Amino acid sequence: MKLANKIALITGGTSGIGLEAAKLFRDEGAKVVIIGSDAQRLKDAERALGDSVTALRADLRDPEQIDRAIAEVIETHGRIDVIYANAGAGKAAPLEAVTREQIDEQFALNFTGLFFTIQKAAPYLSQGSSIVVTTSFLNAVGTPGLSILSATKAAVRSLVRSLGAELAPRGIRINAVSPGPIDTPFATKMGLPDADLRKAGEALTAAVPLKRFGTVSEVAKAALFLASDDASFVTGTEVAVDGGMTQI
Ligand SMILES: NC(=O)c1ccc[n+]([C@@H]2O[C@H](COP(=O)([O-])OP(=O)(O)OC[C@H]3O[C@@H](n4cnc5c(N)ncnc54)[C@H](OP(=O)(O)O)[C@@H]3O)[C@@H](O)[C@H]2O)c1
Repeated sequence: MKLANKIALITGGTSGIGLEAAKLFRDEGAKVVIIGSDAQRLKDAERALGDSVTALRADLRDPEQIDRAIAEVIETHGRIDVIYANAGAGKAAPLEAVTREQIDEQFALNFTGLFFTIQKAAPYLSQGSSIVVTTSFLNAVGTPGLSILSATKAAVRSLVRSLGAELAPRGIRINAVSPGPIDTPFATKMGLPDADLRKAGEALTAAVPLKRFGTVSEVAKAALFLASDDASFVTGTEVAVDGGMTQI
C-alpha cells in the first residue's frame, strides 16, 4: 500500500486520468476526495468509485468554490497529504480566431484554478506531503491551433519550479506528470468537428515514437509514484508519460 492512511485530493477526478488515479490511489490505501464541476459526472464517478471515496462539486474557475471544497475536506479529514491537481480543459482555435474569452477561460481553469487549489490547501499540508500536477506534452512542442492551451501548461510547468522552491523548506514536494496523447474524453470537448478530431488523432499517433495513444492507467501510475514516498527525493520535476514524444 503506497498511500496507506493518506488523505488525497484529486481535481478532475470524475473522468479520464483523474478518475483512474482516484481508483488507483484508493486501492493503494488513500482516503480519496475527488472534485469535478458536472453534477452527472460526479454522480457516475461516485457510483464507480464506491463509498470510501468522497465526491465534491466545485467549479475550479471560481476561487470561492475552491475555498468551500477545501473547507469541506478539512472538516472531514483535518489535513491533506496528497494533492493531484489534474483538472483541465482546452479549446482549439487558430491565431486569428482566438478570443479574449477563450484565453481567460482556459487560464482560469488550467492555471488559476490549479494555483488556488494549491494555495488554499497549502496551510493544511502535512510535513512530507506531495503535490502532483498534470501538465501536457503541449508545453514542449508547437501545435497549430493549440497556442493558449499549450501556454497554460507551460505556465503550470514553471509554477512547479517556483512552488518547489517555496515549499521545500516545509518538506513538501511538487512535481508534474506530462501526458502525451491519452485516450480520454478530453479531445472531444475541444470544439473540433469529428473529421478534424480523427485527423488530429492520426497525426498524433504518427508523432509518438511508440506509435499509439497512452492509457489513463499509464499516467495514473506515474502520478502514484510522485504522490508516494517512493519519490521522496524528487521535487520540481516533470515526468513525461508520452511514448517518447517530447524526449526522442
Ligand atoms: N487526454 C490527453 O490526451 C491529455 C494530454 C495531455 C494532458 N492532459 C491533461 O490531463 C488532465 C486530465 O484530462 P483528461 O484527459 O483526463 O480529460 P477529461 O476526461 O476531460 O477530464 C477532465 C476533468 O477535469 C474536470 N473539470 C473540467 N472543468 C472543470 C471545472 N471548471 N471545475 C472542476 N473540474 C473541471 C472534469 O470534470 P467535470 O466535467 O465534472 O467538470 C474532468 O474530471 C487535464 O489537465 C489535461 O489537460 C490530457
